[in-house]
Amino acid sequence: MRTVYVNGDYIPETEATVSIFDRGFLMADGVYEVTSVLGGKLIDFDGHLARLERSLTELDMLKPAAFDDLLDIHRELVRVNEIDEGMVYLQITRGSDGDRDFVFPDPETTEPTIVLFTQSKPGLANSPAARTGLKVISIPDQRWGRRDIKTVQLLYPSMGKMMAKAQGADDAWMIEDGHVTEGTSNNAYIVSGGRIVTRHLSNDILHGITRAAVLRFAREAQMDVEERAFTLDEAKQADEAFVTSASTFVTPVVEIDGAPVGSGTPGPIAARLREIYLDESLKSAI
Ligand code: PDD
Repeated sequence: MRTVYVNGDYIPETEATVSIFDRGFLMADGVYEVTSVLGGKLIDFDGHLARLERSLTELDMLKPAAFDDLLDIHRELVRVNEIDEGMVYLQITRGSDGDRDFVFPDPETTEPTIVLFTQSKPGLANSPAARTGLKVISIPDQRWGRRDIKTVQLLYPSMGKMMAKAQGADDAWMIEDGHVTEGTSNNAYIVSGGRIVTRHLSNDILHGITRAAVLRFAREAQMDVEERAFTLDEAKQADEAFVTSASTFVTPVVEIDGAPVGSGTPGPIAARLREIYLDESLKSAI
């Protein structure tokens, strides 16, 4: 049985409880991070922590008492649960003042709720999807307008995954004004004429930590990178497509709306970026 962390305590998962009045439960009033673990070490931890801090600030949420100890808590959970490859999930909600109210509770008297747990995923770095590629469908982006904040409002992304599944695909790319915003839980890229194109940062997409690292490595390797919105039509004509996230690293996309991307097989640039990302981020894993 997993050991999880709830508000200062390491406890068996079956004993972990949160109030039914918690605003995370009632109003999706919370933020989260997913950090991958390879070889028992945390990948891109500093980036995830920096984004967490930003998400909290954007929502006027205070840091929980344990904030400065987050690295130790992550490491302890990885250790006690013997995670070699997998993820650490962290969630902070605005907590509960014992009732339901649209107005935020007084932060002086209502401590945020903090929960962390691990997910073991043996073979994460060597996943079959990296070799076969993903099939995606396109769906309208019907999420809210602050997608740069990593909130736990994941109903529409979940619906998107279900729509993909119903069509025999793996995931969905979301479309707004004819342009791809991102995948349901990853950032989206195309490669055309050797140039890597991915949407520029704004409130329209999550500022992926993997995205930042992959673009840095791509530029260091003298690859051509352009950050701008691209259309669904462009994606369908591209030579390659791929996604990035903490749980997929760099994973090729080989089909969009039933039509093959390029040759319909994983492309060389995605493969190279995956290799560089895994090599480099393992070097700085903590
Ligand atoms: N999802 N865009 C969205 C909408 C996401 O949910 C995620 C991450 C990303 C990639 O961000 P990062 O590289 O920092 O993981 C982009 C996580 C993995 C999840 O919800 O499980």
